[in-house]
Amino acid sequence: MAEIRSVVQQVLGQLGASREARHYLGQFSGTDSMRFAVVKVGGGVIEQQLEALASALAFLRNLGLMPIILHGAGPQLDAALEEASIVTVKHDGLRVTTPEVMEVLRPVIYRANRAIVSALEEQGVRAQGIQHGVFECDFLDKDLLGLVGEVRRVDLEAIREAVNRSVLPVVACLGESATGQVMNINADIAARELIWAVKPHKIIFLTTTGGLLDESGRVISAISLRTDFANLSSQPWVHSGMLLKLQQIDQILAKLPDSASVSVTSVDNLARELFTHRGAGTLIRKGEAIIELGKFDDETRQRAATLLEQSFGRQLKPGYFDSLELECVLSSESFGAMAIVLKGVDGIPYLDKFAVTPEAQGAGLGAAVWQVLVNRCTRLYWRSRIDNPITQWYYEQADASYTQDRWVAFTKGVHDFDQIRRCKDDCLGREESWQEQRHVR
Ligand code: ARG
Repeated sequence: MAEIRSVVQQVLGQLGASREARHYLGQFSGTDSMRFAVVKVGGGVIEQQLEALASALAFLRNLGLMPIILHGAGPQLDAALEEASIVTVKHDGLRVTTPEVMEVLRPVIYRANRAIVSALEEQGVRAQGIQHGVFECDFLDKDLLGLVGEVRRVDLEAIREAVNRSVLPVVACLGESATGQVMNINADIAARELIWAVKPHKIIFLTTTGGLLDESGRVISAISLRTDFANLSSQPWVHSGMLLKLQQIDQILAKLPDSASVSVTSVDNLARELFTHRGAGTLIRKGEAIIELGKFDDETRQRAATLLEQSFGRQLKPGYFDSLELECVLSSESFGAMAIVLKGVDGIPYLDKFAVTPEAQGAGLGAAVWQVLVNRCTRLYWRSRIDNPITQWYYEQADASYTQDRWVAFTKGVHDFDQIRRCKDDCLGREESWQEQRHVR
């Protein structure tokens, strides 16, 4: 244990605040070591980044975490079939698997499986290839698809046995019928079935792109399905492949506890994704509803105070909540992200506080509250300290800003010049809600 702790300190110290890293390590090392993560490795990663893959997995193993690895071999198979001059036919994305295709497919999958196992062992990590005995299948549609399996039962015995011996299981997406006929299973379907059987805390998709990409090819940091799904589906740049992926992920998460999350990331970013709040990749969660409170009661007041004081690192003045003329309060269900909006000048809502914990930020809840906020309040104004890191982001959200001393005033959706001025004067003239800081640095 002491040895592991020093590894954590050494390696994770470089990743960010090591407190952050320990927080996640604590979360991931639950009582049942089977349930840390299912890692699905794309064929492209096996082809191009085998060594880096093995060292990223070895890193997890050295922290005492036992990911269950599942892989396909799509690109390798395409190449092998082409070489054998066999034409690939697909129905709804499923590869028609004739006996000739199966003849090529089986050795290709075995080879990919062995490649991962050997790469891990080269890093000094004990690993076991599990090519059979996990997915018991029926024919999905024998006439149309041939030897394509529909998973009927997942047998976790071999995997559990490996994990218990601290050997990393590397599972291939092959199945068998009850009578032992080997069947091809689409890797996404195999992943889904395995995940449902294991119910892991984390689901990790390792890809060469390192996440889901937005319109300009940048990785989308977080998607909260509950609040972002509809919005994303209507974006013209979201292509059908990405929608399908999101639908699959939605379907997977629907059968898992709310705490489960999917991370789509690259081999090189895996550690950063797992052990920092901010992550490096795309985090997808079911997400939380954003609720609107008309007023604070004792309980919500207490939770709001905790969130505000923690995220601003200061103490609220006594009586802060009593003096508020509330327009509305928007909060994520867990109170990790919250906007407190007051009645302002000319009937324009004044955003008095916007607070988000680092974890909620990583989960995309800050952005979700903000979205609901700007839909609810089409006109809005607020202020921010010039040295507050969020100020930069506010510039992108606002349509007008005004800097005075240590403050920046912002407006959004206010078009009348006099009104903008009144908003600015009002917010810059407002009293502080925080107590004097005793220790000024
Ligand atoms: N480390 C946390 C996790 O793996 C948060 C990751 C946040 N990632 C992101 N791409 N926003 O659950």
